[in-house]
Amino acid sequence: MKISPSKLINLKVNYFIAPIGIDEEKPRFSWQMSDRRQGAKQTAYQLQVEAAGNPVWDSGWIEFGNSIQIAYDGKALHPQTPYLWRLRVKDMDGSETAWSKSSFETGFMLRKWTASWIQGTNPGTTLQPATYFRKDFTIASGLKVRRARLYASALGAYMTSVNGKPVSDNVLSPGWTDFHSRVQYQVYELDKFLQKGGNTLGIVMGDGWYCGAISYWCTHSSKERPHFGLPPAIRAELLVEYEDGSTTVIGSEPTTWRCSQGGPIRSSDLYHGEIYDANMEMPGWDSPEFNDSGWNLSQFTSRTQRLVWTSAPPIRRYASINPVSVNSPRAGVQIIDFGQNMAGREHFKLKAPTGTKVIVRHGEMLNPDGSLYVKNLGEAKATTTYISNGRKADYSPSFTTYGFQFIEVVGWPGIINLNDFVAEPISSDNERTGFFDCSNSLINRLYENVIWGQRSNYIDIPTDCPQRSERQGWTGDAQAFVDAGSYNFHTGGFFNKWLADLESSRNAYGEYPVIAPTFDKWSSGVSGWADAAIICPWHMYLKYGDKTILERHYAAMRQWILFQRDNSVGLIRKASEYADWLNMDAPTSEELVSTAFFAYGTSLMARIASIIGKDQDAVEFRELFVEIKKAYAGHFISDKGLLIEETQTAALLTLKFELAPDEKSRSKIIESLAEDIMNREMHLSTGFLGTPYLAPILADCGKPEMAFALLEQTSFPSWLYPVTQGATTIWERWNSWTHKDGFGPEGMNSFNHYAYGAVADFLYGYLGGIRPLEEEGGFRRFLLAPIFGGTLSYASVEYRSEYGAILSSWKKLKGGRISWEIVVPPNSTALVKMPCFVLSYDMDGIKDSLMEFEVPAGKYRFKIEM
Ligand code: BGC
Repeated sequence: MKISPSKLINLKVNYFIAPIGIDEEKPRFSWQMSDRRQGAKQTAYQLQVEAAGNPVWDSGWIEFGNSIQIAYDGKALHPQTPYLWRLRVKDMDGSETAWSKSSFETGFMLRKWTASWIQGTNPGTTLQPATYFRKDFTIASGLKVRRARLYASALGAYMTSVNGKPVSDNVLSPGWTDFHSRVQYQVYELDKFLQKGGNTLGIVMGDGWYCGAISYWCTHSSKERPHFGLPPAIRAELLVEYEDGSTTVIGSEPTTWRCSQGGPIRSSDLYHGEIYDANMEMPGWDSPEFNDSGWNLSQFTSRTQRLVWTSAPPIRRYASINPVSVNSPRAGVQIIDFGQNMAGREHFKLKAPTGTKVIVRHGEMLNPDGSLYVKNLGEAKATTTYISNGRKADYSPSFTTYGFQFIEVVGWPGIINLNDFVAEPISSDNERTGFFDCSNSLINRLYENVIWGQRSNYIDIPTDCPQRSERQGWTGDAQAFVDAGSYNFHTGGFFNKWLADLESSRNAYGEYPVIAPTFDKWSSGVSGWADAAIICPWHMYLKYGDKTILERHYAAMRQWILFQRDNSVGLIRKASEYADWLNMDAPTSEELVSTAFFAYGTSLMARIASIIGKDQDAVEFRELFVEIKKAYAGHFISDKGLLIEETQTAALLTLKFELAPDEKSRSKIIESLAEDIMNREMHLSTGFLGTPYLAPILADCGKPEMAFALLEQTSFPSWLYPVTQGATTIWERWNSWTHKDGFGPEGMNSFNHYAYGAVADFLYGYLGGIRPLEEEGGFRRFLLAPIFGGTLSYASVEYRSEYGAILSSWKKLKGGRISWEIVVPPNSTALVKMPCFVLSYDMDGIKDSLMEFEVPAGKYRFKIEM
């Protein structure tokens, strides 16, 4: 047997390399081939799984080219068990690769926890001191640890340490779920942390999303009664497995886990910040030598939340940003500028006399007098208070995060040195998959702003903003941005998690909420917002080929469509209180918006039903779509074929959702959209719902140059306008701040609101032309249809798909010619659609007259005549 030169790389289970703590009966495998040969592909694979040397699955040779979403199909998996898997494939020549190995480990599966939920002894209301828990235990000297795993969670936020050392760099665990029903647990590998003899497990717990002010959104409900519950609690179970096969389980329980609220974190809150009194530090509290006789025994507490495994990456610090300047607008106040807006925390080093109180407030902008602008923060105090104990400090808050570019420091002894502070932005640690560069530096900055906006707002759930007393999982924003967001980063795990929160946040009628996780089923069924429940899974399918997400949520999505059908008048709906939110004086009616989204959801459901093999449903959804389309045309389109409401958004929704009754009407709507844009001197008037479709639809409808004109527009309102005003993230409004007029309305004026950043999907999908094809999610076959448009002289776009990195890079040459270079990853093919004539190419089989052709894996260069 000839050995294939292909190498198998990125062996993943449920999107992660060697994950620990998977609770799925049928985990899904994926891999990539590394192979430079043109046309490299897999023709068959064999996958084997074993546990402790015993085979549990041998797929045998499967003649199949897919290398993603391959579901486990062996013997039932056991809880808390490490599995090894190996894989080989046959390439296009029939040669076999060597075996490649990886692993995964299950979590609790259906096993019951032996540990109890426990809480502190003095549970107060919110803004209480953090609770410190400690548990001493011994590893007998004759035993050798083979594997040690800590499974832990909190209704609150928590951090864990063993023998004085933090066991992970996760931030704000266990994340934010719909705490009415579920909470995630984390698994930590403790093998290297345990020692023979005495050991101590330490857990610090703050209010977090569970019972902090964010859980009742400050003003939106009773301050006394947090929505998810009170007080915070933890649950933890440590499994120690020894070389001789014996095991010990140490679970949280009230009789031996001691606790104290006398530690340095005096209060912590996501909106309000953290108070830290170093004088109350308890040196060695999480080490075996510590004398905890002054501590209390913790209390048993009964909680009903289901503990679920963590399918998304943890939140982490991902950078360390140095200050660019320190200024003092008035005596005693120093302002540090980090040069970049972000979500995260400050980190400082301090040596100050005992009792020195340093107060750090956070803001995104400065007032004209150089002072910190905090008017847009709503009720969020966003303040760190640090009290010195006289010793050297190296401090960063633990259980909070802020949206900021600037900090105001009061009480600092002397002048701040630039080295004293850094900013540490945090985000869900989703893998970066998209890269973009072009000849227009403003567009490059816009793109960077989109990335910063996403990092700042994908913090375990997709939020609207990271700074004011809001930071909620707004569903409308999530759906507007999901396409762009899943080019930028791998969001498969992230959305797997959030969509579960969205589904469990529905009301009794099956309507999805405007924010998820939600409070007391607050405001549901709003069109364009609730529809995230169908639009987001659809994009997970397109990008990652994930059909399980469609299957898992199918019944609920179907119910939502049927609810809309049954709660409409002649299939016309009126349920979109925000409609085209923040449009530019060009409102589109609630009826049009709701009916259009009802139609779109229905047509997506027809496609989804047929993808997952529900053919009868597919037919019914298709029929329903045709009926809605008729009703829509009857209601919103005149006899002349024109929209009665001639807003850009009305046109975009009609075109994107295929609601024009015939070709003639479609062309008229395209022309009237173009006319409106021209009448506005190449400006948009769209809000949250219309803007994401603007550039792609113009390109799809034969107006690519207009899409580029809008993209390159620098005057208000436009994507680049905020960039010209100094934006380092995407703003909530096009004119949140301007050189000329200063700040926009302070109530709704976030400087880090990713929704308008949806334009990044145009950069990847049209400028680079890298787009998924609907019939086969996951990029095994994809579209390459770039537009060499606008005044750009080059663009380089990379998307790291499930099959590997796709590259589309073009340059305008002298004489109107274009050189275009592409990379199609192994085991995939590209359907190339040329906007113009191909002059030369370095591949076999294409004729220069072809405008559309298939390209197998490889690297190619084309010369094109415009
Ligand atoms: C949020 C939005 C959200 C909107 C709904 C705002 O407060 O910040 O982004 O979609 O409300 O209208």
